[in-house]
Amino acid sequence: MIGSYIAEWIELALRWAHLTVGIAWIGASFYFNWLENRLERGRDEAAGIEGDLWAIHGGGFYHLQKYAVAPQQLPPQLHWFKWEAYFTLFTGLALLVLIFYLDARVFLLDASLNDLSPLQGAVIGVLTLVGSWIVYDGMCRSFLRDRQQLLATLIFAWFAVLAFVLCHLFSGRGAYIHVGAAIGTIMVLNVMAVIIPSQKSLVDAMKSDAERDAELGRAALTRSRHNNYLTLPVLFIMIASHYPSTFGSPWNWLILIALGVVGILIRHFFNIRHLAGSKWWLPAVASALFVVIVVLTIPKSMLNLYDLKSVTMESVRGIIHERCTVCHSATPVQPGFTVAPGGVVLDSDSQIETMAARIFSTAVASRSMPIGNVSKISEEERQIIAAWYAQLSQTGQGQPSQ
Ligand code: HEC
Repeated sequence: MIGSYIAEWIELALRWAHLTVGIAWIGASFYFNWLENRLERGRDEAAGIEGDLWAIHGGGFYHLQKYAVAPQQLPPQLHWFKWEAYFTLFTGLALLVLIFYLDARVFLLDASLNDLSPLQGAVIGVLTLVGSWIVYDGMCRSFLRDRQQLLATLIFAWFAVLAFVLCHLFSGRGAYIHVGAAIGTIMVLNVMAVIIPSQKSLVDAMKSDAERDAELGRAALTRSRHNNYLTLPVLFIMIASHYPSTFGSPWNWLILIALGVVGILIRHFFNIRHLAGSKWWLPAVASALFVVIVVLTIPKSMLNLYDLKSVTMESVRGIIHERCTVCHSATPVQPGFTVAPGGVVLDSDSQIETMAARIFSTAVASRSMPIGNVSKISEEERQIIAAWYAQLSQTGQGQPSQ
């Protein structure tokens, strides 16, 4: 009991830290991208200034300059941006272990797909991260480094295949988080293994009048461009666990791939917004794709809802009390749970009715609950919940929104 209580607080601390360093990292990266795109170039070329811009923020004026090559002398204080990225990886990996590996039967595995053990699940998970980096880094260093578009396409294809395979091996939640963690790992290692070394070589070259490693500089540019386009897909994955219609759908892998494309299109729109000409087709296509995915993946159970026969509250209450309240109760009995997860308490009839839409969306439409099907709900029981929900919707109780 006390163990899972402490674990919850550790998880909170880690998640809080993960979010904070992640925002610091991606925020700085967005900012520098914006800066690069908005520089007013060629105003002070004689002084070696490639471009500059003025900004106002927090009650002060800022004047930023970018050097075409480098300043005459290294400034005494040069700021680097790397710890935000590294700590995003450390905290992320710790969360992965704490939530998905130590509690694998609940969050990582899906007993209805296969009978992987928690250890096997964790090994596959770790191999996914390591393997993704090896494949990605290998591709970037191969002949593909001169074929940027082909490289980008193959990287996308790798993640699409990964999404498909993992969604057939793990629970939707577990699959999504591993695709996200694999992308995140690549992004951080790009900083650690290529971008920072390239900057070091630039600084060293200035100190010793040596040549800068031009190849490394070129690689760093490619890697940071990849990071830029991977950002929005990874952010979607990080919030996806709140949306069972995504990871819980039988089409979860397709939804993941499609929303990845949406994120990339939107990022591209912002990347080229400063250039002449209209690019409104980018967000238009992204929005259209989003809508297509929503419509294409409407759960079947939602469409034939109204053909179901009527059921009593009694039978529904029985199912909920057997399959849900082991966790979703003011006093959960499931080992590892000290409070009702997500704040969802289903002890009384009125609590059950109030939550009708969420119960339907999780237990029937997306089948993301009972989580990991730990309490072994049957197909028939899911159908009874569906029928009850249809009835409620017709009589106007419970919101048929989900
Ligand atoms: C083994 C424990 C367990 C059982 C059994 C369980 N749940 Fe959950 N439930 C969870 C956890 C953990 C979360 C929080 C998931 C998260 O962090 O996103 C959750 C979240 C929820 C949520 C809110 C978040 C969301 O995804 O919408 C609803 C609604 C829900 N469960 C419904 C149910 C229903 C209905 C049942 C029974 C059919 C059920 N749960 C059985 C553990 C359980």
